[in-house]
Amino acid sequence: MAQEAQRIPVAMGHIEGVPLLGSTCDAWDSIYNFQARGDDILITGFPKSGTTWMQEIVDLILQEGDAQKGRRAPTYIKVPCIELIPPKPRPIGVELAQTMKSPRVLKTHLPINLLPPSFWEKNVKAVYVARNAKDCMVSYYYFHKMNKMLPPPRNLENFFSAFLSGDVPWGSWFDHVIGWWKAMDKHQILFIFYEDMIEDPMREIRKVMKFLGKDLSDEVLENIKYHTSFQAMKENPMTNFSTVPNAVLEQTISPFIRKGTVGDWRNHFTVAQNIIFDEEYKKKMEGSGLNFRTEL
Ligand code: A3P
Repeated sequence: MAQEAQRIPVAMGHIEGVPLLGSTCDAWDSIYNFQARGDDILITGFPKSGTTWMQEIVDLILQEGDAQKGRRAPTYIKVPCIELIPPKPRPIGVELAQTMKSPRVLKTHLPINLLPPSFWEKNVKAVYVARNAKDCMVSYYYFHKMNKMLPPPRNLENFFSAFLSGDVPWGSWFDHVIGWWKAMDKHQILFIFYEDMIEDPMREIRKVMKFLGKDLSDEVLENIKYHTSFQAMKENPMTNFSTVPNAVLEQTISPFIRKGTVGDWRNHFTVAQNIIFDEEYKKKMEGSGLNFRTEL
């Protein structure tokens, strides 16, 4: 509590009604005008959906399972988030991306309506990671507690209401998943569910491999599965964010690679909150054609 009380307030802003970090809003022109390349691969998803996990999977597919090459740099450098303006000396997303050789793997949490248009002009392939809203919310709550670039949450109850109304950085989980889901008609988007990755990582890694037009042996895929397992990523300094100073990510409050399960919401939601959540969920998701599992 004492550590959280010392936090400096974080400026927030809005782009087209979507709450984003103030630093992202200030740099919005350069972000929105970012120039994608035809052979870029974009990893996307609402925050806390398992995007870091997917970043490592895609990188290791491109490295043909060579874990040594996978360790060449931290995940957030190998696969920069284009709208992120991290504290110095970390380079800002769009600038880092411009210096990278092709094929680049890039990441974004932007809702589809805010994606820089050049991604679709260049027909870029995107892997969307979707995670059930309840677990995503709990994970995001812990992330707000430990990440000093985000506004500190007052308590879980307060964060619960903010998440449901879309008043959290990157906006509404509902608009995000529905927007990207519908865009599959028009664009090259592979939709992957976090719960499916937990259930059968090999099956999901194989789907990603095929989508990227690669053909790797079972042995290589097993190796990728091993090196991207929860435990391996938790122990690997290149994937566990231990390279980011405590002043930014306070991992003693909550580790970045935290729990990695389906159904952690059960340890946090009250019965009343669960009823409210389910009612709101039904209203917002009805007719979307999207089905999430909240337990396995
Ligand atoms: P939890 O907080 O529920 O543990 P993102 O990378 O999009 O921010 O998502 C972070 C979430 O993915 C965290 O969820 C994190 O622990 C989980 N995660 C990261 N790597 C994982 C892995 N290899 N296997 C399972 N979950 C993983």
